[in-house]
Amino acid sequence: MAPSQFFPPLNASLNALSGVFLLIGYVLIKRRNIAWHRRFMLAACCTSLAFLACYVTYHTLRGGVVTRFAGTGAIRTFYLTMLTTHTILAVVIVPLAIISVTNGLKMRVARHRAVARWTFPLWMYVSVTGVLVYFFLYHWYPS
Ligand code: HEM
Repeated sequence: MAPSQFFPPLNASLNALSGVFLLIGYVLIKRRNIAWHRRFMLAACCTSLAFLACYVTYHTLRGGVVTRFAGTGAIRTFYLTMLTTHTILAVVIVPLAIISVTNGLKMRVARHRAVARWTFPLWMYVSVTGVLVYFFLYHWYPS
């Protein structure tokens, strides 16, 4: 199977899994279940790290060839806005996630809660839009 067939659905699935783990982790902390909140948040870190490794591998294998979005007009503006905010926030959440996990694991609860309150919605946004970008690019408006 060619990398261009194998990696995009794998990357989208890893993004989707991160989103599901984050959501479950959030529901668990709302129910005051710290042990399982910790496990699911660490699982989200693992799937996001696996995504990063696969993303870098895929783009290295492709040697700079990019997949073009075929949509035009308003849908193109929407797609490019989503892609730009996704990309910027994907960089922003890296330090936020590291700080949230570190404070969480050390049980610095007040500091953890203060940062994690921002980390959670931004990370969710990146995971969900990662899946949407995949569908827009490879299924709904393929070039
Ligand atoms: C992996 C290690 C983690 C541990 C051990 C941990 C632990 C905790 C603890 C002890 C609390 C406070 C519960 C309370 O109010 O008594 C908490 C709250 C919270 N955590 Fe984590 N956490 C971890 C990772 C994360 C990550 C990575 C995120 C964000 C993506 C996150 C999101 C949150 C949020 C949003 C709250 C506040 C919930 C609320 O205010 O109702 N946690 N966590």
